[in-house]
Amino acid sequence: MIIGVINTKGGSAKTTTSTNLAVAFAHKGYQVCLLDTDEGQESTRMWVENRDEALPEIRVEVVLPKFLATTAKALEQEGYLVIVDSAPKLSDLANLIIVSSDLLIIPVQPTYYDFRGFENFLENFRAFKGAKEASGGKVVPSVLLTRTRPNTLMLESIKEALANYEVPLFKTEIVEREAYKATASMGLGVVEYSDKKAKAEMLKLTEEVESLIENF
Ligand SMILES: Nc1ncnc2c1ncn2[C@@H]1O[C@H](COP(=O)(O)OP(=O)(O)OP(=O)(O)O)[C@@H](O)[C@H]1O
Ligand SMILES: [Mg+2]
Repeated sequence: MIIGVINTKGGSAKTTTSTNLAVAFAHKGYQVCLLDTDEGQESTRMWVENRDEALPEIRVEVVLPKFLATTAKALEQEGYLVIVDSAPKLSDLANLIIVSSDLLIIPVQPTYYDFRGFENFLENFRAFKGAKEASGGKVVPSVLLTRTRPNTLMLESIKEALANYEVPLFKTEIVEREAYKATASMGLGVVEYSDKKAKAEMLKLTEEVESLIENF
């Protein structure tokens, strides 16, 4: 299974979502490989450098766009759950991730600009999803609301707006919490950290993703 974590909007929590899901799946016994496609930043690679060797291993590979499809497929065949952390731009890379992935997780923060970024991405997504389906493939996208502040008007209005689109929303929302920032510099996922609420929401999200994998 290949999961692309993608949004063309910068800073939408792609890396945070990728690393945290990787850790949660590793604790469930999955063999996980993160593919870092963000050549400029390599945030995922930097994250894993701080990871304690005693913790469940997460393999990280930095991959150039031209090798993405073949690398992801080869790792999948080796038995890895492959999670692709994307770079923040509409590009050939974004299109390659759409075409190479089985599931897409689209992290969206509840702000006007992020919502507009999602709409732009969606236009692109539709074109490449069509191309993939025409060749007998399938790609299942879901929107993940991240860095939310519960019970705010902005969150409610973004949720209403998202309901008008064909991409379903995860039930789990990832709340704005210090735990996500703190764990980023320690090579950890929030399921390995002291914030119980962060851990609980990440485990819920992991279950939702697992059910998408099982029903794919
Ligand atoms: N739920 C959260 N609570 C608090 N901070 C968060 C949360 N999610 C992400 N962040 C912080 O927001 C910033 C951007 O997150 P992240 O680097 O994951 O985004 P990105 O989409 O990968 O960015 P880029 O487009 O630059 O690759 C980081 O500082 C991260 O620690
Ligand atoms: Mg990133």
